[in-house]
This record gives sequence, C-alpha cells and structure tokens, in this order.
Amino acid sequence: MKKLFIVANWKSNKTVSEAKNWFRELSTFNFQPLTDREVIICPPFTLLSAISAEIKKNNLPFKLGAQDISQFESGAYSGEINGDQIKEFADYVIVGHSERRKYFKEDEKIILKKLEMAQKYNLVPILCISDIVQLNPLSFILNHQSAIVAYEPLFAIGSGKADNPENSEQVAHVIKDKVSEVPILYGGSITSNNVNNFTRKPNINGVLIGGASLSGLEFAKIIENA
Ligand code: PGA
Repeated sequence: MKKLFIVANWKSNKTVSEAKNWFRELSTFNFQPLTDREVIICPPFTLLSAISAEIKKNNLPFKLGAQDISQFESGAYSGEINGDQIKEFADYVIVGHSERRKYFKEDEKIILKKLEMAQKYNLVPILCISDIVQLNPLSFILNHQSAIVAYEPLFAIGSGKADNPENSEQVAHVIKDKVSEVPILYGGSITSNNVNNFTRKPNINGVLIGGASLSGLEFAKIIENA
C-alpha cells in the first residue's frame, strides 16, 4: 500500500486557544491506526510550540511543518524565521506556496534559496507549484534531497472547485517523470467528500489542505476518508 501524506496548511489562522479547541474536536474522533499515513500540521509560527505540546499531550502520531522558511541564516533579518529555529519544532516546511508567490513576490531565485535552507537544516520541503513549468528550474535540487511536491492549480485554491482528479493524476505523472523519487500531493478545495477521488490515483501520494483543515472534525474525516 502506498504511503499517504495528509498536510494541513492553516495559513494565517488561529490563536492558541482556537488551536487547543481544534485538538479537542479532533480527539473526539476514533482514528484507525495511521500506519500508512503521515499527517503533517503546518500552523503559523506562533503556534508551533503550543501544537507540539498538544500533539504530545493527545498522543497523536502527527508531525509538524512550518509554512515558510527564511532564505537567510540567523542574523539581522527582522521578521524572518530561519531554518535553525524551525528545526527545533518541525520536520517539514512548505516552500513557494502560491500565496507567497503572489503577495510576497517570491520568485524562482528566492524559492531556490529556501529549498537550499531546508536541505541544510534537514527539513523536508513541500514545494508548491501551480504549473509544471515552475518545477523545471528547481527539479535538479529536488532530485538531491528528500522532498515533496504539491500540485495546486490556482483556480482550485480556496474556490470550492477542486481540479478534475484525472487531470491532476496526469500532471502528477508528468511531475514523476522529472522527479521520480518525490511524493506528489494534490492541493485545492480538498474536503472529506472528495479526498479519496485524488488519493486513490496511482501517482498522487497525498493532499495539501487549506480551508477544510481548519475544522478539527472535518480534518479528522479527511484523514479517515483519504
Ligand atoms: P484550500 O487551500 O484547501 O483552501 O483550497 C489549499 C492550499 O492553498 O494549500
């Protein structure tokens, strides 16, 4: 059975008390053993410590990820969080999300530096691309480090209109040709109702979930149905 990655991207949402409620909701759910699933929660930086404590307290087999990484080392870079700091809490980091590309003007050069930082600090990058052409200049580095690629078509993000699973499967197949060892995720309007349409495709190794991951109960159902 293939291993599935189920990644929650909370984006810029939740306070500490809201995060604790999320765990309360989720822990009412009776999970099947998660042997073939890697569940990764990517909260804002401000919640990494609290969530790490909640995961331990609730004895959940979840991993943590950050939503971004500084392209710089530690130093005089106000507002930045660097790889060395992230590594204290997380094993994964999302790199190049379309919102970072759009609102923070992250380009290929910056994304490449972030991938290098992830590699240096032993964080597995979850590289988001909305188009296969975004992968071409980066595929060489992905072939030399442990990494994940998430295909997220722009029209599907936050729109309630997920891609056609056949189409995403085809894109995942093309991505696999370029980076053969890298798990490929699909992201964009995933819910507990449509998750399995994607995860059952042979070249899709999991999902990246935004909006629907904000409810503990819905996220628990996504894990169950994936
Ligand atoms: P969505 O977001 O699930 O809310 O569409 C996905 C993402 O941006 O990663």
